[in-house]
Amino acid sequence: MKPIKVGLLGIGTVGSGTFNVLKRNQEEITRRAGRSIQITMVADLNTERARELTNGECEVVNDANLVVNHPDIDIVIELIGGYGIARDLVMKAIANGKHVVTANKALLATHGNEIFKAAQEKGVMVAFEAAVAGGIPIIKALREGLTANRIQWLAGIINGTTNFILSEMRDKGLDFDVVLKEAQRLGYAEADPTFDIEGVDAAHKATIMSAIAFGIPVQFDKAHVEGITKLQATDIRYAEQLGYRIKLLGIAKRTPQGIELRVHPTLIPAKRLIANVEGAMNAVLVHGDAVGATLYYGKGAGSEPTASAVIADLVDITRLATADPEHRVPHLAFQPDSMNDTPILPM
Ligand code: NDP
Ligand code: HSE
Repeated sequence: MKPIKVGLLGIGTVGSGTFNVLKRNQEEITRRAGRSIQITMVADLNTERARELTNGECEVVNDANLVVNHPDIDIVIELIGGYGIARDLVMKAIANGKHVVTANKALLATHGNEIFKAAQEKGVMVAFEAAVAGGIPIIKALREGLTANRIQWLAGIINGTTNFILSEMRDKGLDFDVVLKEAQRLGYAEADPTFDIEGVDAAHKATIMSAIAFGIPVQFDKAHVEGITKLQATDIRYAEQLGYRIKLLGIAKRTPQGIELRVHPTLIPAKRLIANVEGAMNAVLVHGDAVGATLYYGKGAGSEPTASAVIADLVDITRLATADPEHRVPHLAFQPDSMNDTPILPM
């Protein structure tokens, strides 16, 4: 079976993680996808750094258009960010009949309706697990795991940078600006960190989740957005003394009047699980009418946690795009005939 060929746009924090994890876990990923997934082209403005990272294993170009227009590329991964160039490239890739994987929540929350309409018309897939809550498979949970449910509400810590800032300010008494710089150094923050601290990034993610949970178009412009910039160290201390933690929550809730979509700092009793989510970790609570409350927890930002979600999308698309039924790997298959002889240890 010939490999599926992937073009990667942007080999920064998430792009380099994607390249490295795909290489490191190639054998398992190939088995799960049913065929080998190969990044054959990378586009980045910094071609020197890209060549160093990819070490001669694929073609490196400066112009991302060369990737989206290349006839051999089956899947384009967009990891540039923003909604200018990224939007043009994604729309071109779709028009050229390529499947798209993106981690770009800003793009999907603002242009998602246009992008998904174009993809539907062209019969290609656009996958975006990495766009919400980093490595946590929350899109899959909403779309597949909870598919029997009428979702009533969801609420979550969905921005790693602000949760990291609030945790470090409380635990170490550090200044806001110092912790924000550290979040940038660790690769958590957006290129424009005002998106993080003003609640915009969390609102992008809440918008995307609301569209899936309630079956509505993305409507970022309707979200109430309030970040953490007005919070003082004293607010965090007083909350602590009263038995609360302050968390930036993204909330989407079904009400008799319509859907509430909001992001704002929230006082949560310290004994609640979600109040104890620290650092760049994320957690999302989803309440469905049949299942009740469910909770999803994990790393919400960073190179390899986000790459984990990008590659999950690559595997999904590879499975679905493999037309030949003989070579298609059944979803969630066990491996009864596997040659893998890793033993189960006696206890
Ligand atoms: P980075 O800034 O680290 O990486 C972006 C890369 O794209 C850089 O190498 C940049 O080059 C390159 N680039 C910029 N413009 C172009 C262009 N026109 N053509 C080709 N390459 C270009 O960003 P991240 O990896 O952090 O984020 C990528 C996406 O993933 C964003 O949408 C972000 O919101 C999302 N995301 C990020 C997470 C994280 O934890 N970092 C988590 C979840 C999602 P140069 O540096 O030279 O400008
Ligand atoms: N800037 C984002 C965050 C990256 O801090 O959560 C992950 O989407």
